[in-house]
Amino acid sequence: MAELSNLAYVVFEVSDLARWESFARDIIGFQVAVPLAGEGLALRMDEYAYRILLQPGVQDDILVAGWEIPAEKELEAFVTKARSAGGMVVEDPVLARIRGVERLFTCSDPNGFVHEIFFGPTMLPISKPFVSKVLSGPGFITGSLGLGHILPVSKDVVVSLPFYQNILGLRISDYIRAELAPGMKVDATFFHSATGRHHSLATGQFPATKILNHVMVQYADMNDVGLAYDRVSRANIPLVLELGHHPNDKMFSFYVQTPSGFAMEVGSGGIVIDDENWKVVTYSQLSDWGHKRVIPRNY
Ligand SMILES: [Fe+2]
Repeated sequence: MAELSNLAYVVFEVSDLARWESFARDIIGFQVAVPLAGEGLALRMDEYAYRILLQPGVQDDILVAGWEIPAEKELEAFVTKARSAGGMVVEDPVLARIRGVERLFTCSDPNGFVHEIFFGPTMLPISKPFVSKVLSGPGFITGSLGLGHILPVSKDVVVSLPFYQNILGLRISDYIRAELAPGMKVDATFFHSATGRHHSLATGQFPATKILNHVMVQYADMNDVGLAYDRVSRANIPLVLELGHHPNDKMFSFYVQTPSGFAMEVGSGGIVIDDENWKVVTYSQLSDWGHKRVIPRNY
């Protein structure tokens, strides 16, 4: 299948690496490691050498979304298909070496970051297993479902939605069209990739100061959500949204402010889509309970 398998990694440019290091390791439960190349920090969630790369700089925003395809032939077929749909997809062997992958192509997103599509990631040996200082359960849900999901803000959905659907070839999961307060509307589109995490990318168009609204990571054990919630509150880190539950992906989660200002959704219980039996619907609520806003909107 010439399709993106899953969202395998993201790269953020961050201005305060030291704060990110303790936030990632001591609060959320990532393992912090040295990147395969270059400066910054690698955040591990499993046997992959990294799932999040933190690169030093001033932007405090997303730079890259890295999508895995499991075989070289499928990667080549994806590139052919994306190009025939009008995508400017370019191979970058130098960047492939930096990322520690076999082959890598790049494609610019209309919202100001870059997609990297690759096969052949670097896995660390059994002698260097993922370890977390703080997680009590079996760890993060990753594997074939990828690292989680991202919500980049669309400058113009008329451009973004066809880009995600036709160039990246993502499938629509569902929509949420809700009125959060009188006159304050949300219109979000959720996309999944081949392995079926409910969404690997969602987007909507609203005024925002950053490209990335949030990144989501998922624990296997819902108790880890509660334990992380307690660590956030003990460390006085600002919450963005209180605990709650989304009606579409069934995620039980809260949203915490990262040291870069965008949010990290920390959840458990998200569903996996079986395309054979999936029906695209529109929900009228962002959350069926909770997710009360704590930090005022920056728009
Ligand atoms: Fe989310």
